[in-house]
Parts: sequence; structure tokens; C-alpha cells
Amino acid sequence: MQTRVLTGITTTGTPHLGNYVGAIRPAINASRRADVDAFFFLADYHALIKSDDASRIERSRLEIAATWLAAGLDPARVTFYRQSDIPEIPELTWFLTCVTAKGLLNRAHAYKAAVDKNAEAGEDPDAGVTAGLYMYPVLMAADILAFDAHKVPVGRDQIQHIEMARDIGQRFNHIYGRDFFVLPEVVIEEQVATLPGLDGRKMSKSYDNTVPLFAGGAKALREAIMRIVTDSRAPGEAKDPDSSSLYTIFRAFADEAESAAFRQSLLDGIGWGEAKQRLFERIETEVAPMRERYEALIAKPDEIEAILREGAAKARAIAMPKLAAIRDAIGLRAMGAAPAAKSDKHATAKVGKAPRFASFRDGDAGFRFRLFAADGEELLLSMPFADPKAAGAMQQRIRALGDGATLRADGDALVLELDGADVARASQASDAMQARVREALAQLAAQD
Ligand code: TRP
Repeated sequence: MQTRVLTGITTTGTPHLGNYVGAIRPAINASRRADVDAFFFLADYHALIKSDDASRIERSRLEIAATWLAAGLDPARVTFYRQSDIPEIPELTWFLTCVTAKGLLNRAHAYKAAVDKNAEAGEDPDAGVTAGLYMYPVLMAADILAFDAHKVPVGRDQIQHIEMARDIGQRFNHIYGRDFFVLPEVVIEEQVATLPGLDGRKMSKSYDNTVPLFAGGAKALREAIMRIVTDSRAPGEAKDPDSSSLYTIFRAFADEAESAAFRQSLLDGIGWGEAKQRLFERIETEVAPMRERYEALIAKPDEIEAILREGAAKARAIAMPKLAAIRDAIGLRAMGAAPAAKSDKHATAKVGKAPRFASFRDGDAGFRFRLFAADGEELLLSMPFADPKAAGAMQQRIRALGDGATLRADGDALVLELDGADVARASQASDAMQARVREALAQLAAQD
């Protein structure tokens, strides 16, 4: 079976080398795997939350689409589309909005950061915060849930959004009593290098320390590389490769043998200027052919438009019937029409008869598990454990708890306590949630 892997690219800014190495290249490589059904889209509705400059939005959409195509994305293989070409996404956003707890959105990092900043400045908490920023996680949930994505590769800053998409999808499934949505798993690419920028900090637009990928051509690429900060060691003095950004960036483009040779040159005292020239040449070897394709594409926006429209047609072939079924199920059907049979094939198949645990690896944090109720609703998320064995042992202990479990409210959350330590939590502390958790624990204990 193929795994559906979906990710969105917010269309603000111009792609830089860090985007290429950290996101574009690994995503395109993954999309070539036979067991992957990749969905990549331009998140231009999300871009509107960040920018109201129409010409920047327009330019960035074009540049980002051209970049992904030039970098080797194959639109025949990948479903590549624009969010704003899929009317089912905003439609689903509203349906999800109506089941999303406002408190959940209050806890979103991006919103909280804005509120904290206002508090520091002595402003009204919501000063300058649009409802768009507030609703960002729901739009993102619709992006993911509309296509039943299994896996969503994102940067660390987006983990919470995927958790929220799960929560929201879960809630909708629960309320309407059917598994409408696949609950997505976050994928954090651990082995992907984050590139250092000009000043040695992570390359990022917000630090203004980026090396452009295509913009400005080979000349701008070389000039930026020449500005990368180094120490003051003179030519002839040995350089420390492991503390040099040049070496880190070089390795992201070169194979083992080339990297080892570059490393040796640094140890042998190559001058920084010459080292930068070698770095430039190595990157240029990979970038030049892509840049050529990029420029050809940018010159023919109609072709990009046609590719994206075709992608939208493919994407809508999935989203349209899904939204039709949802409209029907939530009561938005023709007057006098009977509800469609619950024919959704995984509607009943996926609902287990007993509560169950599901384990997963949460990036660097460690190993966690979830407890699902018999009807599939997610109840508890465990704390991270150092290894899968420890996580498994904890599941065994929880199984044995039955109604001896200690549950306590912690703010909005519900915490399961064992030996005085918090071992798992539910995102709400409502009486209904408490009751569901107790029921599931009792069922587990009864099984053993
Ligand atoms: N918010 C994501 C980011 O800034 C972009 C995005 C929008 C996205 N919708 C998505 C990513 C759905 C994954 C899935 O990086």
C-alpha cells in the first residue's frame, strides 16, 4: 500500500539554499519512492496571513512553483497544486472550525507568541492579531484532512499544528460517529542538515543571513558565499573543519570522498578565500542545471499555470467526493433527501472493539504512545520515554490500573499519574473526557 505524504509550502519569500537542502531536495527524493503517494501544494491562503502585499504574493507563488519544478518535482508523479485552486479546502475549514474548541486555538504557539509580545509591550493582548493568524491551525488541518494524508513532513516549528490537525479530525470523527478522516502522523526529518547561514546561525529569512538558491544567478550565489563568516586564520594556518560553516555547507552538496578532500584542504591550511571558491564551484555544479530550468520556467508562467491546474484537478477528484459525503453527513443535504448510507469503507472497518495503544517515535524527544478508545477516539498521549521497551512497560502498567488510576486536571489538560509522576495526558479535562478515560482503562484491565 502507498503512504500518502502531504506537505504545504507557504508562498512567501524567495527560496534559499537552506530551503533547498532542508525541505525541497529531501521532499522530492522521497516523492520518487514507489511506496509514496506525494501531495505537495503551494499554501497561498496561508501566505495571506503573513503578507498583504499582492505583488509579493504573486511573485512568490511563481518563484516557488518554478523552484520545485526546476529541482526535479515530477508533476506526473506528484499531485502538485495550489491551495487556492481547491474550494473544498475553505469549505472544510468552516466545518472543522465549528467543531474546534476555541481553547485549543488559544494554545497555538504562533498565536501565544503574538499575545506574549503584546503583553510585554503593554498592549492589548490581541493587538495586531488577525483572525487569520488565529485560525491558521484549522486551515492547515483542512489541508491535511481533505486528502486523508497519512504522513506530514514538516519542520519542528510545525509539530503542534499536526497534533492539532489530529485533534480536530478526531473530534469531527467522534461527533459525527464515523472515521471520515485519517489521523495524520507528523514526520520530522532528523537526518536532514539545517544549513548555517552567512553569520553561522541557522540559515533563515528571519535572520537575514541567507544564500539565494537561484535569485541573482551564479554571481549572487558566489557573492553570498564570499560573505560567509570565518575566523581570522591566515592562509597556511590549519583550519578547524568542524567549526566551519563552509565545511557544513560543502557536505550538504558533496559525497563522502569530496567532503573528505575538502576537510583535508582545510586542515592543510587552504586560505578562506580559496575554500569559498571551492565551495561555490561545488554548489554551482548542482545548482546550475536547475537554475537553467528555473529560468526557462519563470519565462513561461502559462506553463506553470497549466501544470498547477492539472494538479488541482487531480486533487479535487479526491476532495470533492469527500466533501460531498461530509456535507451529507452533517445535515447539509437536499431537502427531503435521505442520508446516504454509511458506505464509507473504513467507516466500520477501522473501529476496534477494544481500547488500544499505538506507539510511535516522536523525533528526538523519544518514544511515546497514544491510548485510543474502543470507538477510535484518541484519549491519552504519553510522555516521551527513552526507549521503546520503557514505553511498552508503561503500557503494561497502565493496562493493569483499571479503576485504580489517578487522574487529575492540570489546567485544560487531564493527567494520568503513576507513582507521583505524570505519565500521560489528555488534551481536555472535561468530565466527559475523564469518564471516557476511566471507561477505557476499565476495559483494558478487564481484558487481561
Ligand atoms: N504551515 C506550514 C509552514 O509554514 C505550511 C503548511 C500549510 C502545511 N498547510 C500545510 C504544511 C499542511 C503541511 C501540511 O511550513
